[in-house]
Amino acid sequence: MEVDKKEELASDSSDQTVNPWEVSAKEGGKIDYDKLIDQFGCQRLDDSLIDRVQRLTSRQPHVFLRRGVFFAHRDFNEVLDAYERGDKFYLYTGRGPSSEALHLGHLIPFMFTKYLQEAFKVPLVIQLTDDEKCMWKNLSVEESQRLARENAKDIIACGFDVTKTFIFSDFDYVGGAFYKNMVKVAKCVTLNKAMGIFGFSGEDHIGKLSFPPVQAVPSFPSSFPHLFPGKDKLRCLIPCAIDQDPYFRMTRDVAPRLGYSKPALIESSFFPALQGENGKMSASDPNSAIYVTDTAKEIKNKINRYAFSGGQDSIEKHREIGANLEVDIPVKYLSFFLEDDTELEHIKKEYGEGRMLTGEVKKRLTEVLTEMVERHRMARAAVTDEMVDAFMAVRPLPNMFESEKPLDFVGSSLCRYYHCTRSMTRTQRKRVEECLEVGNGCLVATVKYLSNSYN
Ligand code: TRP
Repeated sequence: MEVDKKEELASDSSDQTVNPWEVSAKEGGKIDYDKLIDQFGCQRLDDSLIDRVQRLTSRQPHVFLRRGVFFAHRDFNEVLDAYERGDKFYLYTGRGPSSEALHLGHLIPFMFTKYLQEAFKVPLVIQLTDDEKCMWKNLSVEESQRLARENAKDIIACGFDVTKTFIFSDFDYVGGAFYKNMVKVAKCVTLNKAMGIFGFSGEDHIGKLSFPPVQAVPSFPSSFPHLFPGKDKLRCLIPCAIDQDPYFRMTRDVAPRLGYSKPALIESSFFPALQGENGKMSASDPNSAIYVTDTAKEIKNKINRYAFSGGQDSIEKHREIGANLEVDIPVKYLSFFLEDDTELEHIKKEYGEGRMLTGEVKKRLTEVLTEMVERHRMARAAVTDEMVDAFMAVRPLPNMFESEKPLDFVGSSLCRYYHCTRSMTRTQRKRVEECLEVGNGCLVATVKYLSNSYN
């Protein structure tokens, strides 16, 4: 049996712990990402790969690539090699629906996945692990399922293309070919091995022990016979935060034994809490994060009161030595969400050299986040139950590899035309118009998709 010792020992061989359930650094310090790459045995995403993405997609790489938010990978180069030869791949990502309201950190993998889908023009499967959260967060089955649907609306609001995207809930979808793959995976993983990778103990209930195959098998195209029939060799690329790596170390370890390709990964660092990079965003402290449901006033207050500043205590001192950008949260947040590279560099220089004050940086951050959250709020409000059903329907996606997006259009006249969509109430239609105003063409495309399938 091929076992990579380095991979297996990853979770307990060091003073920092990073696994799907716990992220903690040594003595409350920062996560050492270089060390994590070593520990896990993944590869650093270097500039040459990013240049390659630019060349292959003929567009500027996403901010999250340019600024190193996605910083590690496994076999991403192989997926690009294949793509260059004309072989496509599919994307797989997911969310554990443990809470109603998402914070900005939750949106990061989805914003990035949307970019990948658009840039490479490939299909996408999104797993909602309602079963996982039911077992780990002690939610009832019904409540986890409800949260999965609510979260699906936020995910759809990010602008995925309904003709290329399948969203599924484990409770609904597990069975058939998917379940067969789960059993195959389960047979390859001993209890010892699972304890090594995930840190399970004798006190954990057996539901937890049995879960990893569920998250593993969306990496295999044969788990989706309605999408990829006869395409068993199709490669899978998984964008995720690096805490999910243990699931996919396990998956990659067993794949060759099942005759399947290993999934490739592209992995992000964690989005810091308002209180600073040592802090953790915690569900029990609403002031540690900005939620997509926060009002403009709440966003402003949170940033002003809680965002950890690297500025100096007195203006004189600040003018003299400038801000410590290494620990400054407003700058950190801007580097995630301010698109304009020149403006970001300008802010860093002026602030770092003391000419700009914390208040000014916080003001700019407040503008950027308010606009983003507002755009999300409007798009989310336009997502109907029917749209959720459309994304979650087990259906073939006949144009999923096609380059042009026949349904992508932005134009209010077209939107008005599709108002004939019978199932939409007037309010919902109005919301779609709002989406157009904020440029969410994919949502409008979903309306069109729905109206077509009814004709
Ligand atoms: N376990 C993940 C969570 O708790 C959800 C998830 C399932 C996922 N499949 C995934 C995340 C694939 C990233 C990629 O959020």
